[in-house]
Amino acid sequence: MSELRTELAHGYFTSDDKARMDIDTIHRWLSEESAWARGRTRETVERSIRLAHAIGLYAPDGAQAGFARAVTDYTLNARLTDVFILPAHRGRGLATGLVRAVLEHPAVATVRAWTLSTDDAHGLYAKFGFIVPEKRPGEMEWRRPSPPAAI
Ligand SMILES: CC(C)(COP(=O)(O)OP(=O)(O)OC[C@H]1O[C@@H](n2cnc3c(N)ncnc32)[C@H](O)[C@@H]1OP(=O)(O)O)[C@@H](O)C(=O)NCCC(=O)NCCS
Repeated sequence: MSELRTELAHGYFTSDDKARMDIDTIHRWLSEESAWARGRTRETVERSIRLAHAIGLYAPDGAQAGFARAVTDYTLNARLTDVFILPAHRGRGLATGLVRAVLEHPAVATVRAWTLSTDDAHGLYAKFGFIVPEKRPGEMEWRRPSPPAAI
């Protein structure tokens, strides 16, 4: 599969190429800094990326700046997870570009039902139409309006 890149502001870019991903950096942030994956092993991180729709975010010099993945059947359903921007790169709209790259990737073009859980980043996902289901404040969901190939 050839690499699909999306150019963002200030020379940043996203890529779906798993060979480009800096697993050490992704593992370090998830296992040491995240609120939800403390202690996750490198092997688990590697496997969770291999079997998911994963997108990396990169600085102009190619260094890993962020990451996101979706657990999906590539057909109907997906759950967005492990979304982060490394602290040095935050506040520049990069998470918005990263989430857009996940949602607009052709591999998930027919996926209508999207879910995620978040404690405090609702504003990020609301930009894409995600809403909070009644009585489940930590959850968000989005139904893609008109997939190219309706199933
Ligand atoms: C949340 C996070 C991904 C945002 O990254 P970012 O590149 O700074 O975000 P952006 O600049 O693209 O901002 C997008 C929107 O996200 C929201 N946002 C940004 N930082 C946020 C934060 N720390 N907490 C909650 N919402 C935040 C804002 O609504 C912002 O909208 P705006 O542009 O209208 O102000 C980043 O702060 C991060 O990695 N945090 C730790 C991990 C995490 O919480 N991930 C989300 C798990 S659901």
